[in-house]
Amino acid sequence: MIAPSILSADFARLADELAAIHGADWVHVDVMDAHFVPNLTLGLPVVESLLKVTDIPMDCHLMISDPDRWAVGYAEAGAHNVTVHAEAAADPVRIARDLRAAGAKAGLSIKPGTPLEPWVEVLKEFDTLLVMSVEPGFGGQGFIAEVLDKVRTVRGLVDTGHLNLLVEIDGGINAATVERAAEAGVDCFVAGSAVYGADDPAKAVAALRAQASAANHRFTA
Ligand code: DX5
Ligand code: ZN
Repeated sequence: MIAPSILSADFARLADELAAIHGADWVHVDVMDAHFVPNLTLGLPVVESLLKVTDIPMDCHLMISDPDRWAVGYAEAGAHNVTVHAEAAADPVRIARDLRAAGAKAGLSIKPGTPLEPWVEVLKEFDTLLVMSVEPGFGGQGFIAEVLDKVRTVRGLVDTGHLNLLVEIDGGINAATVERAAEAGVDCFVAGSAVYGADDPAKAVAALRAQASAANHRFTA
């Protein structure tokens, strides 16, 4: 699955930018609060408007403090998957249950320096794990390959039935890195600058998907 991140899109033309990624599996929407991360993007009112102009399932990545208070609103608005940060959540299990009760999938994200092991039990309540492969806050940063160890570990936990979730990766995914991530066991690839920096964003989505599939035949089996 490919999830273009609209962080790299033209914010004055978001409806057109959504139309430009037809064929994408999810659209990734980065919510930043200038508190959990040193950048500010958009919030629930913009998400509500975007939901009205696209059928692409929305993947909301909340880089915010106090997701315990704010996350469920995105699920109630109609987001397909709502991801909160493990480093910010006071009660992630409660958040996951609230998100699912509101009809969304529940995602947990870990920053590059956050270990996986302490979160494995909690992840039994979640539908997606978003492994950050850059420090959250900005698009266009370089891929941190060390996080692939966490991807391989969680892939093993899923394949042996200990967890039942999608493994998602976010940050620095492009033609040069997508294959390594696919080989490590990623299911869903977020890509911002690699998609919206391309002349034809929809073509870039298809090309990334083809590269990922070729690198890991789990996708075509
Ligand atoms: C960064 C965001 C990412 C960002 C990725 O904090 O979470 O979703 O858009 O951008 P690229 O793909 O350019 O690294
Ligand atoms: Zn993101």
